[in-house]
Amino acid sequence: MNLEHVEIIGTGSYAPPNVLTNDDLRTKMGVDTTDEWITTRTGIKERHVADENTFTSHLAAEAARRALTDAGLEATDIDMLVVCTCTPDMFFPSTACFVQHAIGATNAFCFDLNAVCSGFVYGLTMVRSHLAAKPGMTALLIGAEKLSSLVKWEERATSVLFGDGAGAVVLRSGGSGRGIYDVLLGSDGSLTDLLQVPLGGCRAPGERPVVQMKGTEVFKHAVTNMTSACVELVGRNNLAPEDIKLVIPHQANKRIIAAIQERLDLPDERMMINVDRYGNTSAASIPIALDEAARGDRLAPGDNVLFVAFGGGFTWGACLAEWGSCAAE
Ligand code: ACO
Repeated sequence: MNLEHVEIIGTGSYAPPNVLTNDDLRTKMGVDTTDEWITTRTGIKERHVADENTFTSHLAAEAARRALTDAGLEATDIDMLVVCTCTPDMFFPSTACFVQHAIGATNAFCFDLNAVCSGFVYGLTMVRSHLAAKPGMTALLIGAEKLSSLVKWEERATSVLFGDGAGAVVLRSGGSGRGIYDVLLGSDGSLTDLLQVPLGGCRAPGERPVVQMKGTEVFKHAVTNMTSACVELVGRNNLAPEDIKLVIPHQANKRIIAAIQERLDLPDERMMINVDRYGNTSAASIPIALDEAARGDRLAPGDNVLFVAFGGGFTWGACLAEWGSCAAE
């Protein structure tokens, strides 16, 4: 079958207004840490944190409204609405259904997708497959997280890493550009113990869910898998890393991104980094970074952009796209 092209035609992002700097974590939240430790280990300087009455669906809905405005579309133009998240408002209904109601996307079918920090890349792949078979269809793909709901501030090895926020893209099939033209996904369920939220699910119902992580191990697997995903995807498309205008990696840690950059031998201007201002926002990190890149004129029509992610599971994935002439004008 000849796949129809599926392009990103609009981007948007939103982060809650409350910003906690590294010093704020120590002085306001009582975390036994320092700006120096966090900055040198992770590159993170500050993160946005939602208040108790702001939920993942609220962040997602605002990012979605901005992406729709960017695309010049109404919510009723959307046929498919997907929220990638590991911090849903509730077990069910899906966060996507809450977002549908909030923005008035009454013609869309809606569901959530959880591949943790790889969620947005998994979502791009799934939406692309669905839209490719149906020219003229429009989808809203959102990565949204309230990760502050999964940390205990006193657990400093994890609490300093995460932030809240949302990013959204509008995708349409049948465009003139190549759009998303290759994708690669992988998982390894033998390593679930290295990064998990073991409590709160049916194995431990009623317990407060909190992230647990073996950070050094996660670091190594993230670098290895994200680098090899990039190399394989670029190579099988007969490209060299320097043919990629911008790599937009999952924003977990500046040192992870630097290690990938070194292995791909790319200059700073080819790597998108904003983890310093957001921390790790899991499934939201790539669409937030993409929105900033698009608005910051770091992408022009015809540019190759490479998304790459890694997260709990483990899961990983990469997508190659040609930036479209109508995207984020
Ligand atoms: N402030 C001060 N000290 C701290 C903090 C903190 N916030 N957290 C831990 N420490 C201390 C530890 O107690 C330990 O002290 P000790 O030597 O006296 O026992 C020391 O710092 C070193 O701790 P390590 O865990 O060995 O520190 P490391 O250099 O490995 O860095 C980090 C930890 C930043 C988490 C790193 O392992 C990492 O970035 N891993 C990747 C994990 C990640 O990004 N996960 C996000 C989710 S997965 C994803 O998105 C891809």
